[in-house]
Amino acid sequence: MKNETYHDYVIKDGEFIGEFEKMYQRFDDPWMQSSQPNKYARMAGIVHLKNFPIRSVLECGCGLGYYANWIHQDTGIIPQSVDLSETAIDKARALFPHLNFDVADITSDLSSYRGTDCVLLSEIIWYILPDLDFILQTLGNEFAGRYLLVNQVFYKGTQQYGTDYFTTPAEFIDYVPFQLVGYCEATTERDTTVESSIIFRIEQKRS
Ligand SMILES: C[S@@+](CC[C@H](N)C(=O)[O-])C[C@H]1O[C@@H](n2cnc3c(N)ncnc32)[C@H](O)[C@@H]1O
Repeated sequence: MKNETYHDYVIKDGEFIGEFEKMYQRFDDPWMQSSQPNKYARMAGIVHLKNFPIRSVLECGCGLGYYANWIHQDTGIIPQSVDLSETAIDKARALFPHLNFDVADITSDLSSYRGTDCVLLSEIIWYILPDLDFILQTLGNEFAGRYLLVNQVFYKGTQQYGTDYFTTPAEFIDYVPFQLVGYCEATTERDTTVESSIIFRIEQKRS
């Protein structure tokens, strides 16, 4: 197809496509992962990892592995990083052979990683919305007492997909049934998005 972009394989005209494997076969650096945009949230995520008693991380939807490497450099932790695209995982292993990557679908495979101190969802929430309640339920059952760290960009009034779930970090925090223990929101005047890094302890929310 002429003039197609990686977005055509992900969410197109407000509709979820989810062809991640095909996308990674056709595009080398989707979401400009190699330059790690949304640096405020990425740095805040690392501060959260250091602020809480976290020694192991399950990174869900790691893509090409750049954030895993950043986390490793800043904390010494080698995350267990997973993505459902085999091509992404092959590339991540080649780029960062000292790190730990696996092919896994977090909508079905989360329980196999129980025992990890922190489950990290970095820029993946929009792609798991239909399974989000099940994922949160699995976290509540299998990861009680551990941490859920979510790095997520929200749109300043231009979100098309998932608007019936949440459109802001505050609405996302309300949605999640766990105890909020830290969060950071950042943007600049010229950005069309708000970056967030939000950490929950996996226990029932106190009112
Ligand atoms: C926007 S990229 C984020 C990459 C990286 N986490 C980052 O912050 O740069 C979203 C990634 O989630 C992966 N993904 C989507 N659904 C998934 C699922 N159910 N299980 C595992 N990975 C998934 C995609 O293949 C893609 O690599």
